[in-house]
Amino acid sequence: MEAGILTLDDFRFAGKTVILRVDINSPIDPQTKRISNDNRIRKSAPTIRELSDAGARIVMLAHQGDTEDYHNLISLEEHAERLTTLLGRPVGFIDDIVGPAALEWVKALRDGEILLLNNVRYLTEEVSTFVNFVKLTPAQLAQTWLVRKLAPLADYYVCEAFAAAHRYSPSLVGFAEVLPAAGGRLFIEEFGALARVKETPKHPSVYVLGGARIADAFSMMKQVLSDGAADVVLTSGLTGEVMTLAKGYRLGEPTERLIEDKGLSPFVAAARELLATFGDRILSPVDFAIDNGGRRELKLEDLPVPHLLVDIGEETIARYTRVIQSAATIFVNGPAGVYEKPVSAKGTERLWNAIADAPGYSVIGGGDSVAAGAKFGVLDRMGYVCTSGGGMVRFLSGQELPVVTALRRAAQRYLETGK
Ligand code: 3PG
Repeated sequence: MEAGILTLDDFRFAGKTVILRVDINSPIDPQTKRISNDNRIRKSAPTIRELSDAGARIVMLAHQGDTEDYHNLISLEEHAERLTTLLGRPVGFIDDIVGPAALEWVKALRDGEILLLNNVRYLTEEVSTFVNFVKLTPAQLAQTWLVRKLAPLADYYVCEAFAAAHRYSPSLVGFAEVLPAAGGRLFIEEFGALARVKETPKHPSVYVLGGARIADAFSMMKQVLSDGAADVVLTSGLTGEVMTLAKGYRLGEPTERLIEDKGLSPFVAAARELLATFGDRILSPVDFAIDNGGRRELKLEDLPVPHLLVDIGEETIARYTRVIQSAATIFVNGPAGVYEKPVSAKGTERLWNAIADAPGYSVIGGGDSVAAGAKFGVLDRMGYVCTSGGGMVRFLSGQELPVVTALRRAAQRYLETGK
């Protein structure tokens, strides 16, 4: 048991049917519709292999795509092919979820065999709680078609989908109501790494928050500064630019228009409030870079400029690096600038390297941040690289993760009743 959640060590899987919920939701190339990065698939493989080696009959549930555009929801056939290659053993795939053909295959599984059902988000009930904001109780989620059809065929439920732990769905919450349930290896590992920076950080603890997802950055910043998880927050990217606006500087028309066009203007007032409450525990850039036919740096006094701010400047990098070097805990989410372009990559590249080289325990999370880490070759020197995005942000923002709650409740029940 870890953090109130049962683990794979708590059950004997030989000859047992296990519903395994993974998060192998992967970036898809818009042209070819093929998987362009299989990191999450790779990270899920060890738990699948372990269960298969233990003789479990594995029924995998997963999703691909979100509901913003129905066409994002695509088949998991390629995921099964990738898993087959990665695991070196066949991963069956059926274009069905709970129809008679799928149920027949589940019943026919032999020890160690693996079956991936198709995209669970094809079922309306899987997405209804976050598309229509229908608030179902966990007991109601256990009464959904998916759970009623599959749970009677299974002995255990294992959740490996920490990246989807913020979703209140039948495949994530419902099974834990009716089956003995555990967290998979990756789930426990990722939850542990985030708990280490959020709940038991060694001090000084520094959060490096940048990027353009200001709502996420602000909700994490407010929470971790309030509860003491962070001693200092270093802001950069658009987040740092909004902080600079809140301090009374004008940035110049192109950057201010970008902030307005992205609907981020209301965050200037929120930034003022944060600065009023937390003062010098929030650092913002003291210089920036523009692309003026090449990189040019300017100080706060040189603002506003008729060019887009694309990165933080040398002086900011140096200041932030000093803070990072003396930190015992570092969490980083959100690039410092437009790191994809050489002219504006310096801030992110130098900070990411500083974090990787710092003696403190570091956790990096979020799609862009991890992609930047891969580009600059620093990921293997970070303490932990998260696979999750939304789940991580919500956890660090102090919100409950329904899947963690469900697994804890299941553990309690199992310890009391053996079921
Ligand atoms: C993710 O990609 O962050 C997870 O798979 C969860 O996806 P969602 O935010 O669409 O639920």
